[in-house]
Amino acid sequence: MLCKITTLSLFLAYFFYDSKLAKCSKIPALSLPTYIGKGCLRDDPSLNECVVRKGSAVISRIVQGDPKYRIPKLDPLIIPEMTIQQGTKQVGLTMRCKNCELHGLKNTKFVKANVDEKKKHVIWNFELDRCMFLGLYSVEGQVLILPIKGDGNANITVTGVTFSYEYDYKLEKKANNRDYTVITKSDLRFNATGMVLKLENLFNGDKLLGDNMNLFLNENWKDLLKEFGPTIGNALGTVMKNTLGSVSELVPYDFIFPTS
Ligand SMILES: *[C@@H]1O[C@H](CO)[C@@H](O)[C@H](O)[C@H]1NC(C)=O
Ligand SMILES: *[C@@H]1O[C@H](CO)[C@@H](O)[C@H](O)[C@H]1NC(C)=O
Repeated sequence: MLCKITTLSLFLAYFFYDSKLAKCSKIPALSLPTYIGKGCLRDDPSLNECVVRKGSAVISRIVQGDPKYRIPKLDPLIIPEMTIQQGTKQVGLTMRCKNCELHGLKNTKFVKANVDEKKKHVIWNFELDRCMFLGLYSVEGQVLILPIKGDGNANITVTGVTFSYEYDYKLEKKANNRDYTVITKSDLRFNATGMVLKLENLFNGDKLLGDNMNLFLNENWKDLLKEFGPTIGNALGTVMKNTLGSVSELVPYDFIFPTS
C-alpha cells in the first residue's frame, strides 16, 4: 500500500530525509470512502447528529464489503467458529457453530451517537429488526436442566435487537507525521425482544425428542438469550472493532474528524 506523496512532501523529503520519512511509503493515508464523503467537523455543535446522518447512509453500502478499506463482506457475515461454553463438561453446555452465517446486518439502523471528541470516548446505538444465524451446529450437555445432544443445521433468529458499541481511543502519530485512531477499549451491549431457534437432527434425528427439545428451547428463549447473548454480543463487537480498526489504520484522524 502506497501513501500519497505530494510534490511538497517529496520536496521536504529531499531536505529532511530521515528514517521516518523513508517509511512513509508503507503508511497509507486514505480519505474516507467516497460514499461517506468528508468527515464530520470535530467542533461541530451537532457532531452527534452529523455522525448519525453520515453513518446511517453508509451501513447498507459498507456491509457489501470494501477491499480498499480492508472491510470484508458483512452480510452475510461468515463466522468461522462460534462456541458457547457454559459450566463444566458434566453439568454444562457446549455449543459450536462452524462457518456460521449471520444474515441481516444490512438492515441495521443507526439510532444515536454520543461522541466526546475531547475525552476520546464514543457510544453508538443501533437497532435491528431481525438477524439470523445459519450454519452447522453441534451441541452436547445440559440446557436449562435437560440433556441435549445433536449436530446438523441450525437457524437461530433473533428479533428486536438493540445494541450499543462503546469505545475509547487514543491517537498515535505514525512515521508520516499524521495521527491515527487506535481503539484502546471497547464494549458491545446487546439485547433482543425475541428469539426463534430451530436445531435440526437433534438426538441422532429422533424426531419426537428433537421436536420436543425445539419446543422447549423456544418456550425458554429468554433464559437462552441470557446464555447466548454474550456470545452474540462478542460476534457483533468483533465486527465493529475490526471494521473501525481497518478504517482507522488507513484513514488519518484529521480526515475522520476534520477541524474547521
Ligand atoms: C429461519 O427462521 C426464521 C424464523 O423462524 C424464518 O423466518 C426463516 O425463513 C428461517 N430461514 C431459513 C433459511 O431457514
Ligand atoms: C433486555 O430486554 C428485556 C426486555 O425485552 C429486559 O427485560 C432486560 O432487562 C434487558 N436486558 C438488558 C441487559 O438490557
